[in-house]
Amino acid sequence: MDYFLINGGNRLRGRIEIGGAKNASLPILAACILCEDEVVLHDVPDLADVQSMLLLLEELGVQSTRRADGALRLRVVDESRVHAEYDLVRKMRASVCVMGPLLAKRKEARVSMPGGCNIGDRPINLHVQGLRRLGAAADLKNGDVLLASEQLIGGDIFLGGPFGSTVTGTANVLMAAVLAKGRTVIEAAACEPEITDLADFLNACGAKISGQGTPCIVIDGVEQLGGCEHRIIPDRIEAGTFMVAAAITNGELELANCRLDHLGAVVDRLRHIGVTVERDNGVAVVASTRRLEPADVTTQPYPGFPTDLQAQLMVLLSLADGNSVITEKIFPDRFMHVAELNRMGAMLRKEGPTVIVEGVRHLIGAPVMASDLRASAALVVAGLVAQGQTRISRVYHIDRGYKEIEKKLAAVGADIERRQEQAEEEGAPPRRSGTHADAPVWLAPHEVPTK
Ligand code: EPU
Repeated sequence: MDYFLINGGNRLRGRIEIGGAKNASLPILAACILCEDEVVLHDVPDLADVQSMLLLLEELGVQSTRRADGALRLRVVDESRVHAEYDLVRKMRASVCVMGPLLAKRKEARVSMPGGCNIGDRPINLHVQGLRRLGAAADLKNGDVLLASEQLIGGDIFLGGPFGSTVTGTANVLMAAVLAKGRTVIEAAACEPEITDLADFLNACGAKISGQGTPCIVIDGVEQLGGCEHRIIPDRIEAGTFMVAAAITNGELELANCRLDHLGAVVDRLRHIGVTVERDNGVAVVASTRRLEPADVTTQPYPGFPTDLQAQLMVLLSLADGNSVITEKIFPDRFMHVAELNRMGAMLRKEGPTVIVEGVRHLIGAPVMASDLRASAALVVAGLVAQGQTRISRVYHIDRGYKEIEKKLAAVGADIERRQEQAEEEGAPPRRSGTHADAPVWLAPHEVPTK
């Protein structure tokens, strides 16, 4: 198993290219099940989760190849299979996104019901409810959700739940409705940019969707979808993670391929904290030069502050000059990182879905364990600024959503390397990602007085 070793204290400086969005790629890949013709996708990141989705699609008769220029070509070659089995779904919850396309195109879908995960309960009741409103019969057998319909019929569907809308639920209903007879109106639809990207992709294939990016999406069903060439939007969560990394090291990063218009709430909070975020010559420039101000942050559905950046922002606020309050309104139990960050000297107190963050002067390196994707990213960010060495084990979690994060960080000055437990035992040298040209210097970035 791989782990990261980070020696904290280096100021990050330089340019990072943001990859295509994981959470836009996954439903768009699933949507290829709907297409009669070849699909070419640019900027699909080569991540563990994408590989899991491609494996599932192969099981379901969708062939894919990576071109030399990195683009993915996908084509349906066999429509006989409709079962997404437990082994694949359990590895990646987003596998559930094949449900809508299978039902619409192949008249039935059998998808293993995903269980909870480290960020909390993850029900799919709204997905199933939405597909039933389109006329599908639904059943549960041996832990699989079974859906069937000879012809889906458009209808009015409300997708709001106790924690707002559902992102992958909206994706599932949208993908099913494009081939339904007549008009479907989805109320309380997710407004996330990843849903807009999915709708834009489907429209490029011949679907008739309007209202994407708003809580009311209207879909007029069509007979069939062709194929298209499409570029995936940049990953706003990867960008936000590097913004926090720049701020916490009092560094300055230029983020290329970064959509600041997808990061409004994040930029607002960062500016409130005292971080500079500007657009310059097509790149986002993020810099920090002073002690940080505390802030109150509540995660909300888009355009609110994203839950996928809550853990990273918590690390930043740990070093602010005062107390902050973070409330999680999407996944109220998504706080696995709290105990690990406290081991690094943070002062975090959890009270229900809220964490009170008492600002401290330093974080201190420690062995810590990654528990889920974004919590791992938070530990990496903490390691960048902690005094001494941080060892993060189980980094396979981070590989699910960040392409070679250690290489990207090392290229802008971080002292971070990936090591393999087994290789080390055999005496092999570590796979070093490189360090900044300048000698590592402890900058004590958060000791800069504000007054
Ligand atoms: N919910 C229900 N019923 C449902 C579906 C969801 O009650 O049928 C609840 C959930 O329990 C949660 C809230 O609604 O409290 C929102 O869940 P949502 O369905 O929107 O989450 P998701 O679609 O499963 C996607 C992302 C997550 C991201 C959330 C919230 C993908 C593949 N996953 O999950 O990304 O945190 O939206 O923005 O798009 C990640 O990338 O690390 C990640 C977890």
